[in-house]
Parts: sequence; structure tokens; C-alpha cells
Amino acid sequence: MSLSPQFLDELRSRTLLSALVGKSVKLERAGREFRACCPFHNEKTPSFYVNDDKAFYHCFGCGAHGDAIRFLTEHKGLPFMDAVKELAAAAGMDVPAADPRAAEKAERASGLHEAMAEAAAWFVEQLHGIAGAEARDYLRKRGVDAAAQAAFGIGFAPDSRGKLKAALSRFGDDKLVEAGLLISVEDKEPYDRFRGRLMIPIRDARGRAIAFGGRIIGQGEPKYLNSPETPLFDKGRTLFNLDKAAAATRKAGRVIVVEGYMDVIAMAQAGIGEAVAPLGTALTEGQIERLWRLAETPILCFDGDAAGQKAAIRAALRALPMIEPGRTLRFATLPPGQDPDDLVRNGGRTALETLLEGAEPLVERLWKYELAAAPLDTPEARAGLRKRLADHAATIRHGDVRGQYLADFRRRFDALYERTSPAPRFQPGGGWRGGQAGRGGRGGPFRGKPPEAPPSAVTRSIGNGGLGPLESRAVLAGMLRHPQIIAHHAETIAALPIADEKLARIRDAMLDAAFAAETLDSDTLGTILGQVGLAGAMEALRAPNGLAFSFLRGNADAGRARRDLAAAIEALAARPELDAALAAVTARLMASPDEAGFAEQRRLRAARDAADQALASLAAGESGADSN
Ligand code: UTP
Ligand code: MN
Repeated sequence: MSLSPQFLDELRSRTLLSALVGKSVKLERAGREFRACCPFHNEKTPSFYVNDDKAFYHCFGCGAHGDAIRFLTEHKGLPFMDAVKELAAAAGMDVPAADPRAAEKAERASGLHEAMAEAAAWFVEQLHGIAGAEARDYLRKRGVDAAAQAAFGIGFAPDSRGKLKAALSRFGDDKLVEAGLLISVEDKEPYDRFRGRLMIPIRDARGRAIAFGGRIIGQGEPKYLNSPETPLFDKGRTLFNLDKAAAATRKAGRVIVVEGYMDVIAMAQAGIGEAVAPLGTALTEGQIERLWRLAETPILCFDGDAAGQKAAIRAALRALPMIEPGRTLRFATLPPGQDPDDLVRNGGRTALETLLEGAEPLVERLWKYELAAAPLDTPEARAGLRKRLADHAATIRHGDVRGQYLADFRRRFDALYERTSPAPRFQPGGGWRGGQAGRGGRGGPFRGKPPEAPPSAVTRSIGNGGLGPLESRAVLAGMLRHPQIIAHHAETIAALPIADEKLARIRDAMLDAAFAAETLDSDTLGTILGQVGLAGAMEALRAPNGLAFSFLRGNADAGRARRDLAAAIEALAARPELDAALAAVTARLMASPDEAGFAEQRRLRAARDAADQALASLAAGESGADSN
């Protein structure tokens, strides 16, 4: 254990400086500060000020300046560690076991802060100087406006090995190396670490620059170069933008975690100031604890790609032991290939808000992850799923929450393998509910249609290789006519296995447009598709196609058309997964028949038939959705 900068910060923030100084110096109130005759030099009129908010004292007469620790070492002459012990005792804190070298380090930290502050100012100067033209251009191209540049203190490190070193020479090479600003390699002269990079200060909770992230201008490796760990910078305990996000969080009542610096900056520019980012590493326990001090349910907003999803699960598992009532996480998943920066740039704040609104609870994320982890085609595999879920729940330290997780997982598992209900309940696509297919029940929606109706052209064309062009076209044409439903069913639509590449591209463009526009009508969607070169394809979709889906008819009630379209989308999404599950069960039964397998096969068949029924009725122009 050593005295970390965090420990010292905590110590300072728990010490009321005016009370400490006031024990030996007679203070009088002066506005938000206190004033006194300086204890460090002789004077008759007071020029010594104590500021509790900033936790430092300053004398305008002799320049004496410092915090609580400095006051005790310089005024009372205590050794550093004794000063720390005295303050810790008064603040009710335990002093970590003394490590003399660490204590020394902490003492030097104040000098490091000065060096970092000066470096940050120098980088900003460079950005606005002659050498900064390319960097300014880059910022303009990325759409980072002047206000955001100023708020985040963005600067530029010129492509030189010695300019920073020269500009900050008064600190000496050793200090600059310790601050991570210079690199020192054995027998060579220390030289500037950051060269030819856009410089983004990483600040501590008090807003002081403690490290930098340097982005290459344009292409190159590594894309981001970060400061090394220093006495000031502990990567695993720092979150980018924590200083500003803390205030925004109080207003917004939420905190959002994204993956990159630029995401945070773009979001702040779009009016979402409560975003923070780890520094290129997985979220640590310390960072999660820090987030919980800001909000009950931080929202993790990670990439939809494999790496991003792995990071999300890793964070989920790390948080799990620590969750409690009022301490959990939610997960929002970005469309593949887009980060929050892209999303707000294309779709503005609305796009991001829509995404955040759909954030899943922790329990849901874990369930989905384990469900997808392996095929469930054997009893062993299913027992394995149940064990993994139980093992996760068992790591939760809070007794009641642990019990609730176990119960929740059990309910989900049982629902998945329910045998008794005649109604299909299997929900591999997430959105499909047997009830919505409306098979029977209270004079349901399939009036006059016998349940064993022959498969229609639509249902026949659904193969194992995904959706064919006929039904893909039908739903896309429906979406074009009723774009309002796209955002609501984005997840399912995104998951539709549309086999035809061109049609899949139209689907993607529609999803983008739905995120981009606040309200999307058919004409706007048409314009947007035209802009991305899909005008021809769109006209083809508008043309009559002989299908009787209510959502393709001009004269259908709009509410009903939308309900039917949603039902068709859900059914189409469920269908291929049901096919795959059925094929797996059938293969298994051929190898070794057993009663449970046959029951499962029957259940899956029923579910598939119900999906077909729903589609067939919808295709025939009948409403498939309950309209009660
Ligand atoms: P990304 O590669 O997703 O970059 O890294 P980005 O945030 O989208 O950056 P732009 O938009 O291309 O500028 C996400 C985060 O991972 C860390 C950084 O913290 C970055 O913000 N990272 C990435 C590194 O530390 N080093 C790297 O070389 C790359
Ligand atoms: Mn990016």
C-alpha cells in the first residue's frame, strides 16, 4: 500500500482548511474566503487568504501557497507523514501502511501538477499557432467546434523531439520525465513523448490535467498515445471527463459510459454532458464504484461489434458482485460499425437518446449473453446454461439481490422450456410471442381461416438461408409506407436475416434514417434513401406487388397497418430461428430418440406453424395483431 494521489485528494476534501488554519491563525470572513495576517511573513494588513472550496491558502504578500498538508509541514514544521497522519485521524481515515518512497512521491506530486498544467496550456498555444494549422483543420473536419475545443482544453503537440522540453525547461528533465511528458531511454537525451498529435488532457475530479491522450492527425499508429502511469495518473481509477460530467450528471440524473475520448466530446457538443470514458482499458472495479457515486444506474454504451460486446460483458461480470438495491448497470448497444461520435454526428442528440432509452438491465444482458453462448441442443447443454446463470448469480454479495437474480434466471429458463402450455412460447428472436400469432382464442383475429391453412407463397419462401426477396420486399415496402414503426422495432429489424444484399442495404439505410430523424414520414424517408443512392430500389418497393398485406394497401387503417407490419416483422424474425432450432432437435432425435426431444420438436413445430399462420393471414390481408 502507498499513499496514492486519490488518498491524498480524499484527505484534502475531508479536511476543512479554514478550521485547520483557524486553530493557529485568527481568521476573519471575507466573502467566500477567510482572511488573516500571513503566518509565513510579518505584515500588518491581511493578505493571507484561505479558500475552503478550492482547499488551498494563498498569501498575496509573500506567495506562500498550499493545501492542508503543506500548512502542517510548513507552518507547524511536521514531517510529511506526520502531517498526513494528523489530518487522517481528524478526518476519520486510515492511513495506508507507510511507504517512504510513496510519501516522497506524493510530496512531489504538487510540482507535477504544475508541470502538467503548463504543458496543457502550451499545447493549446501550439494548436492556435502556425504549427497547428493541420490540427485545426482536422478538428474542423471532425466537427469539433471552438466551444468544445476550449471546454476540453484540446491542444496540439508539434512534430518535434525537443520543443516541449525547451518550453518547460524550468521544471528540469527529471520532473518532465516523471510527468510522462518526456521519454528517457538509457543513454539518450530525454525527448518529447507526444509529437505531431492532437492533445486531449485527461483531468482528475478537480479538473487538473493529470495525463494526456494524443490522437494522431489522420492515419497512423498508434491512433491514440496515452500518458504512462505517473504519480498523478492511475489509469484504472481515472475516467475521462469525470470533472465536467459530475456536474452534468446531477442535472441529468444519469451518467453514460462510452469507449472513446472523441465520443465524450461529440456527445457534450450535442448537449449530453454526462458521458465519461475509460482510457482504452476495461472498466475496473474502482471506476464502477466511482460511477455509482454519480448515479444509481450508469448506462454503458458500447459498440455492437464483438470487441465492444466483450467489454460490456466483462464490465457486467465485474460489477455483479457489487450490485445492490440502487446500484446496478444498464447496457445500450450501438449499431455495428458506429460509435456514439458517428451516431450523434449523423442523427443528432435524438439518435443517441433513442438508443439510451432502449438500454437493457444487467440481468437481461447476462441472460442474453449466456443464452447465445452455446447451442442448447442437448440436456447437458441446457443444464450447463442453468449452471452458468446460477454461478453468475452466486457472485452477488447482496443476499436479497442474489436471490432475486436466481429467481429471475429460473423464470426465464422455465419460460424457455415450458412444456405444458399449448401456445408457443419459444422466443429465440426476442420479440415473437405465440399469442400475437393469434392462433385461436376468443374468436381471435383469424376469422374463418382454418388453422391448417396451406402455406402461402410468403411462408413457403422462407428457407433456412434467411429471408427470401419476396417477404424481405414486403416488409421493406411496409416500412417505407409506415416509417414510424422502424425506430420501435429497430432491434428486430436489424436482426432480420435478409439474404439479398441490396435489400439488406436498404434496410440498413432505413434504420440509419430512423435514428437520424426525430419524426420520420414516408416522404422524408424517401428523400433520405434517394440521397444515399437508393432511389431506384425505393421506386421498385413502391410499385404494386400483388401481396395483400394491409400495410401495403393505400386504403387500410393506418393503426391496423402498423400493427400488422410489426407483427409480420416479429414473425419473420422468429421464423428462421425456429427453423434452426427445429432442425437441431430433429437431427438429435434421429441419432437418439427420447420423449423430451419429441415434446420439444412438437412445441417448436407448433411455434413455427403459428408464425406461418400469422404471416399467411397477414399476407392475405387479414389482421394478425390483436386490436383490442
Ligand atoms: P477507438 O479505436 O474506438 O477510437 O478507441 P475512437 O474513439 O472511435 O477514435 P476516433 O473517433 O477514431 O478518433 C476507443 C478508445 O480506445 C483507446 C482510446 O481511449 C480511444 O478513445 N485507444 C484506442 C487507445 O488508447 N489507443 C489506441 O491506439 C486506440
Ligand atoms: Mn470514433
